[in-house]
Amino acid sequence: MRIQTPLATNVVGSLFPLLALCQDNANWISVGDDGRSFSLSSSNVSYQFHVDPLTLDLIHDHWGAYAAETVPDFNGVVSGWGTAYTYRRREFPDLGRGDFRVPAIHIQHSDGDTVSAFSYTGYDINPGKPSLPGLPATYGSEGDVSTLIIHLYDNYSDISADLYYSIFPRYNAVTRSFRITNNGSRDVTVLRASSWSIDMPNEELEMIDLYGDWAAEARINRRSVTYGEQGFRSSAGYSSHFHNPFLALASPSTTESFGPVTGYSLVYTGSFSADVERWSTGWVRVLLGLNPLHLSWPVAPGEVFTSPEVVSVYSEQGLGGMSRSFHSLYRNHLSRSNYTFETRPPLLNSWEGLGFDFNQSSMVKLAKEAADLGCSLFVNDDGWFGTDYPRNNDSLGLGDWTPDPAKFPDGLGPYVEQVDNILVQNTSEHVKLGLWVEPEMVSPDSDLYKRHPEWCMHAGNHNRTLQRNQLVLNLGLQEVQDYIITVIESILDSAPIKYIKWDNNRGIHEMSSPSANHANMLGLYRVIDNLTTAHPEVLWEGCASGGARFDAGLLHYWPQSWTSDDTDGLERLYIQFGTSYPYPPSAMGCHVSAVPNHQTGRTTPLAFRAAVASMCGSFGFELDPSTLTQEELDTIPKLISTQQRINPTVINGDFYRLALPDQSNWPAAMFVSPEHDSAVLFAFQIRSALKPLPPPLKLQGLDPDAKYTVSNGTWEQNWSGSTLMNIGLSLSWPTSDYESIILTFDRH
Ligand code: GLA
Repeated sequence: MRIQTPLATNVVGSLFPLLALCQDNANWISVGDDGRSFSLSSSNVSYQFHVDPLTLDLIHDHWGAYAAETVPDFNGVVSGWGTAYTYRRREFPDLGRGDFRVPAIHIQHSDGDTVSAFSYTGYDINPGKPSLPGLPATYGSEGDVSTLIIHLYDNYSDISADLYYSIFPRYNAVTRSFRITNNGSRDVTVLRASSWSIDMPNEELEMIDLYGDWAAEARINRRSVTYGEQGFRSSAGYSSHFHNPFLALASPSTTESFGPVTGYSLVYTGSFSADVERWSTGWVRVLLGLNPLHLSWPVAPGEVFTSPEVVSVYSEQGLGGMSRSFHSLYRNHLSRSNYTFETRPPLLNSWEGLGFDFNQSSMVKLAKEAADLGCSLFVNDDGWFGTDYPRNNDSLGLGDWTPDPAKFPDGLGPYVEQVDNILVQNTSEHVKLGLWVEPEMVSPDSDLYKRHPEWCMHAGNHNRTLQRNQLVLNLGLQEVQDYIITVIESILDSAPIKYIKWDNNRGIHEMSSPSANHANMLGLYRVIDNLTTAHPEVLWEGCASGGARFDAGLLHYWPQSWTSDDTDGLERLYIQFGTSYPYPPSAMGCHVSAVPNHQTGRTTPLAFRAAVASMCGSFGFELDPSTLTQEELDTIPKLISTQQRINPTVINGDFYRLALPDQSNWPAAMFVSPEHDSAVLFAFQIRSALKPLPPPLKLQGLDPDAKYTVSNGTWEQNWSGSTLMNIGLSLSWPTSDYESIILTFDRH
């Protein structure tokens, strides 16, 4: 159908009457009587937009607290020099018709122009949620989620856009992605695709995001949203240490526990862009999606381009409420792993203890020492592979995934069997073996590179810049994807390996075209989808030089990710609190390492390091036990037993940040079971201080009417939830730095 889209030179808005809503079966998606106003609502939130009657453009109305009616086009007359697109709060903004702000969609047509003219043509409402072809996404059935699909058409270029909106009412969450279909006869190129785009009203806002670097991930950044463009992006080819694909917009008065906030999380692992722009009207455009520097995606006639998904949540319980919505949505409707809600085995990883310097007998010895401490999983990190180019340092062997015969003369099978024969101290449980891999990479000194130099990312004759002495394989090539699937399958076939740490230690530089980044991501997702589907029994852990790929895209496939190469207890507090803004602590891998710490040189007590690491789903050690004192060796089994006791609450509970390390000398956080019958509190003292005294620690999330037994393992007290939450605990701290207290709460 061809629809005329009249162009106005000045916008004369009108105050529309409140529209009656006709709701779908699940009552979550409503359409106005005119068939052109839409509302996605739970009892707490509403997301509203409508079709502009003049232009057939989509106009954003509201994303926030629940509103019973739609109030479309409330903006009235906005005078100024512009077109029908300049002074409107738009839902799917394009470039080229007078909207001078950053667009969500930017398409180059075969004749070179980049004007798009999408007009509304209709909608569909479906129960449940369709999957996104080739991309990770949240999922759910009819009782969990409903989907509204808005159809737009550009008559000038014969391109259709279908906008997918899904609402998960239990989580106060709305997800968005779109599909562009080329119905014409000539190629077009998608230059820019922001899956999320809304224009918020003129209100004071602060933007909160996570920045950082290697060994310094997820630092919290909070600033006012002022006029002009502000935002952040990753152009590193992956989500990166530098910026995480997450942002929040909050009122200046919003705290951890009170006040309105919207959070946005991109379910994607490649380069991304977050753009926030305050316009002359004061309106704030919020965009999150692909990085236009790494897109230029060609769409041939008949082809479809699908944008990755953005998940947005709204909370009036501050940043803590936002985080809890993300955490429960991601555990219940993003993660596909069998392990998401499972207690994770305490592990010992060989990296910081032995590095590359080991052989089978030293590894088996380390596994035995791990078992004697109470670890049931032993992880052989980097250095186990390579025949012609044995991996004795980080310049060799990536790509050659066969065991190094000098280290493992009989291959992996007998080695794994030897480890498997070890029993965990005082149990009949056999130690399981895990392996480190970095399959997306290749060392120039490797058989693979000698055979297939064309398989690595490269741009013509440009230098193939090395980083950590390695190159990136081009997973946009199906033969590369198939190679990786085959080698990982053969490792898993060769021995009963129960855990895989999948690393990725560099960004992508030279690419044959900007679109190679997205093609690489689609290839990566195909590989991981294949392997995790075929091997749900394996506990998969993501890693990228620490937390450089801690993103919602990869959390779809595996349940946990290594949080940082910085294992210093103090630094980890900042990193883990920051990472918990969008991602559940149950998905974090956190280990106790030796002191002085390898990265920072700081010495903190063993109990402090263990308490910090116990705040995560996957707990372990990254040290050589033979270097520990007898006192430390005697203490570790007790630390593991405490950690294992509280791990189910950490994995399944709701997370409350009570005091942030950025703001308090006494940071604290707690987990409360969904039934409010058990909880665990982690409290820390960074520096010994005589004055001021620590503030009372007011707990959250407990049942005010219930009585809880509070215990630190040696003493017990009984208090009601109301006392614990309204008066709070006055913890008494020793006069020493880096102290920690773990308390458990059990309803009786
Ligand atoms: C990366 C990881 C580390 C370790 C090394 C091995 O840096 O983040 O945990 O696995 O690689 O080379």
